[in-house]
Amino acid sequence: MNLFDVYPLQDITITKASGSTVWDEKGNEYMDLYGGHAVISIGHTHPHWVQRIEEQLKKIAFYSNSIRIPLQQELATKLGKVSGKEDYQLFLCNSGAEANENALKLASFHTGRKKIVTFSKSFHGRTSLAVAVTDNKNYSAPVNETENVIFLPFNDEQALQDCFTQQGNEIAAVIIEGIQGVGGIHEAADSFLQKIRSLCDQFGAVYIADSVQCGYGRSGQFFSHDYAGVQADIYSMAKGMGNGFPVAGIMIAPHIKPIHFQLGTTFGGNHLACAAAIAVLEVIEKEALLDNALQVGQWLQEELKKIPELEGVRGRGLMIGFDVPPTYSDLKKRLLSNQRIFTGEAKPNVIRLLPSLALTQEDAKRFIEAVKAELKAMSTL
Ligand SMILES: Cc1ncc(COP(=O)(O)O)c(C=O)c1O
Repeated sequence: MNLFDVYPLQDITITKASGSTVWDEKGNEYMDLYGGHAVISIGHTHPHWVQRIEEQLKKIAFYSNSIRIPLQQELATKLGKVSGKEDYQLFLCNSGAEANENALKLASFHTGRKKIVTFSKSFHGRTSLAVAVTDNKNYSAPVNETENVIFLPFNDEQALQDCFTQQGNEIAAVIIEGIQGVGGIHEAADSFLQKIRSLCDQFGAVYIADSVQCGYGRSGQFFSHDYAGVQADIYSMAKGMGNGFPVAGIMIAPHIKPIHFQLGTTFGGNHLACAAAIAVLEVIEKEALLDNALQVGQWLQEELKKIPELEGVRGRGLMIGFDVPPTYSDLKKRLLSNQRIFTGEAKPNVIRLLPSLALTQEDAKRFIEAVKAELKAMSTL
């Protein structure tokens, strides 16, 4: 049997990793500024994370959610403390799409309404509701089509106001990434998030902060929505939560009450996943990784802005994007083949940096030098 060919692949096989470094099967070393798509939060194979998972594996890896799993409460307590949202409630699942699916479903249960507001260039995942609120027709099958989703222009306060004025009483939820990732690193304006908060309050709708990519410390705050000084009703999380171990969840504000059997999962919150997620939070706290993301991220942005060939340097913390003009369109490819540096991309011409939150200043410096070297080489071609 062959694999179902869903992605174009790089011809590289990674066999080993540590921190922000990965090695291929021939022993070549690469710097990872892509973090396996924003997943590596505390660094590849962090020793504390490995130890926690190993110890848990020897005790018990999995049992169903029909019994008490104290590790889930330990994770919830720790997450409440590190995120500063101790009065929220945690529901655990396995992936970002599943987190958003549950967030949207819960918003509909809670309000008894059907309409969801979402924005241009958004990406929320591949399952049916998550893909229905995603702004990319190529990811949506005919069966995903629904009249319940309203697409509005991103950061357009007037369009949002008009929409609520016309049909606010039918809107169950607004879902928004604090910083759009797949869409090309675009920040939601603080005033836009504040507007969402006030309209949701006024009309009784649920504010869902998709924090799958921009959350978990990536922006330098635990949630990028925190910059706007607003509290969402539901935060969805995945990627960095397990540092590569599949674990996801939604944090739910106290006024949304749980009702038995509305949400559920077989694998979500299993013993091993909880051990991995607790280890991540312990390292985030102990190594002050939010501060590191902020400092190294700020330095990187300042240096990138000094490079005249690059345009539109943007982002927050270690979620950075910039536009590569057509003359230098090979930059990403050359960084990988000549400099052995993995970066991310967003179509058509954006380079995305989504490294471990523990990225060192030296690695950041090496990246800037590599970018300059490749731009210089291309300009003399
Ligand atoms: C903002 C956002 N939401 C949701 C998802 C979906 O997460 P997953 O691939 O874990 O289902 C992604 C994945 O890239 C994402 O960036």
